[in-house]
Amino acid sequence: MSERETRVISDEEMNRQGEYILKLRERFSAIGRQPAAFVETYGCQQNSSDSERIKGMLSDMGFGFCDKPKDADLILYNTCAVRENAELRVFGNLGALKIIKRKRPEVIIAVCGCMMQQEHIAKRIKEKYRHVDLVFGTHALYRFPQLLDKVVSGGRVFDTENESGAVYENINSRRDPIPLAKVPIMYGCNNFCTYCIVPYVRGRERSRSAESILAEVRDVAEQGYKEVMLLGQNVNSYGNDKDSEMSFAQLLREVCRVDGIERVRFMTSHPKDISDEVIAAMAEEDKICKQLHLPVQSGSDRILKLMNRRYTREKYLETVKKVREAMPDIVLTTDIIVGFPGETNEDFEETLSILREVEYDTIFSFIYSKRVGTPAADMEDCLTDEEKHMNFDRMLEVQNEISKRKNMAYEGTVQTVLVEGASKTSEETLTGRTEGGKVVNFAGDRSLVGEMVDVKITSAQTWSLFGEIVYQENALR
Ligand code: SAH
Ligand code: SF4
Ligand code: F3S
Repeated sequence: MSERETRVISDEEMNRQGEYILKLRERFSAIGRQPAAFVETYGCQQNSSDSERIKGMLSDMGFGFCDKPKDADLILYNTCAVRENAELRVFGNLGALKIIKRKRPEVIIAVCGCMMQQEHIAKRIKEKYRHVDLVFGTHALYRFPQLLDKVVSGGRVFDTENESGAVYENINSRRDPIPLAKVPIMYGCNNFCTYCIVPYVRGRERSRSAESILAEVRDVAEQGYKEVMLLGQNVNSYGNDKDSEMSFAQLLREVCRVDGIERVRFMTSHPKDISDEVIAAMAEEDKICKQLHLPVQSGSDRILKLMNRRYTREKYLETVKKVREAMPDIVLTTDIIVGFPGETNEDFEETLSILREVEYDTIFSFIYSKRVGTPAADMEDCLTDEEKHMNFDRMLEVQNEISKRKNMAYEGTVQTVLVEGASKTSEETLTGRTEGGKVVNFAGDRSLVGEMVDVKITSAQTWSLFGEIVYQENALR
């Protein structure tokens, strides 16, 4: 896509949205107590980042946030369309809201995100979920204040135009707490893998300016965030849509120059695009975490071709070799789709064999889900659902053994852990991540949240590590 097709939303337009925010703030203050919003997010990091922006706008309108829809004045679901099960959950949740709306007709129910960018879904909500007041797609996010103002003035509002190309700045994010900050560097995707809905619901690739990305990184560093996750569906093609922009490798190095940021990660890298420069930057820059998510999807060349992934098994393995030569301790993770149309048991064996060959630390695996409008939706299936499930279970068995073995190799080592919070199960247990992104649980005081501490790994499981803090005096400085 050329620069011309990227629409940077003007400051003037963003100021107009700011005026709607002030107007709504005034309007909601009339209820005599702080209004509460319930926001639930499905899908990937990109969607969580969008939700942080929506929550930022809601905060600016005076909203606080609650944990249950029943306590909310505004209920919003930010949806994902990548697989059917994510969609089913949204419809289930929306159905359950009918009762709330009947009891409290003044409650505002809104749905946004990737699902809403699909015509058949928006239509279904319009016709069958009449208690939903506001529906808007990914392209309309920046004008949420204006849309909400319309709803408040009466009537249902639908804004799901497919007007790809928008890049917006200057929305306050209400981020997840310190220490991890998500920073989108680009939106959309040009790859059109045949199974995937993302290019249709997020539009073509467009990069933010390096200047605005770096300004955001400096801003989060000043707020005390220590780790940034640079986000994009394919970060390696950052800047390709603009002649003037720096490459992803250059951007990574610039982000490392920001004081206060101690760790830099990124998601996702398409294996066909990861460059030698990016590998070199990763190896040379201490702040770049030695972790790489490199989705392979399948180990069979025949299936990779049907998926339009544009690399072969051999090419992929060469990339892995290069990465490991540059960074022998790299933590590698991947995504796998089981049961893609046309996949035979022989193809599946090749996926198992690539898992054994690469020995990923972790895999994220999915059974293929048919997406309306994608080329794979019209391809012939070979295996039954039962066979696909059996293969899926077999794959987990193979991978769990590898993951556990890889984790056990950490026993006895000392790892620097960035403490993220108290564990879900116990207040006295802290949880954080190693540079490689492995979850570590250990006993410690909550005051350590946001700090880097050295932890000796005492035991390992398939999904996480356990340990004890060492050099505690130093860590408590
Ligand atoms: N842009 C990223 C993430 C895409 S979505 C990337 O290319 O890696 C995350 C993962 O969901 C994909 O890697 C793929 O494994 C899975 N996925 C996407 N569409 C799917 C579908 N229709 N059925 C099952 N899994 C799917
Ligand atoms: Fe989907 Fe492929 Fe784009 Fe990833 S690279 S978002 S899998 S089309
Ligand atoms: Fe889902 Fe949209 Fe992300 S479809 S995976 S939330 S880009």
